[in-house]
Amino acid sequence: MFEDVGTVLIEREKINARVRELGNQLAADLEASLRAEGHNPADHPDRIVMVPILTGGMVFAADLIREMPMKLSIRLVTVSSYPGQTTVSKGAALRGTLPHDLEGRHVVVVDDILDSGQTLALVKQLILEQNPASVRLCVLLDKQVPRVAHVSADYTGFEIPDEFVVGYGLDYNGFYRNVPHIVSLAEELRK
Ligand code: IMP
Ligand code: MG
Repeated sequence: MFEDVGTVLIEREKINARVRELGNQLAADLEASLRAEGHNPADHPDRIVMVPILTGGMVFAADLIREMPMKLSIRLVTVSSYPGQTTVSKGAALRGTLPHDLEGRHVVVVDDILDSGQTLALVKQLILEQNPASVRLCVLLDKQVPRVAHVSADYTGFEIPDEFVVGYGLDYNGFYRNVPHIVSLAEELRK
């Protein structure tokens, strides 16, 4: 039923394989940070906090954490961008509150895509105000466009051209998040 959504850019099998690599890499890096502090990666006092950005980062984060065989906890953040029916970024706004217990912890922010950079710049800045031990930014997709906000990801799944994509958590007007591939949205569906 997803044939008409658009052109497949990245198939689900390729996404799954890359998410596994990212999870392994993240886990190894975080374990190194824990060991450097004298902590046991399997038994530490809530040092690793994953922060998925809702709603787009939900699917990626759900898969990513299951590729990280280590003790971690999750705090959710909701940021809205692209309000209404548009494919042009209009800036980022925090909805609700940020978790306020990040001080001294290793924080991994997880989002679907880095586009103008406004979302991740905002979240990173707000997290840094809490003096965490570290902040890492992990995105599935990095859109090759000039950034509006100066920010770069520490972990990236794929670089993609400047196209509006949906699927694997990414939406257009709230829909297509459940498409299992990354798809360049068909022109006739952008209305
Ligand atoms: P930025 O703040 O412009 O970097 O945009 C990041 C947010 O915009 C992401 O978290 C997505 O939710 C959304 N976004 C950016 N590009 C796309 C796209 O091609 N398709 C769907 N959502 C997108
Ligand atoms: Mg988003």
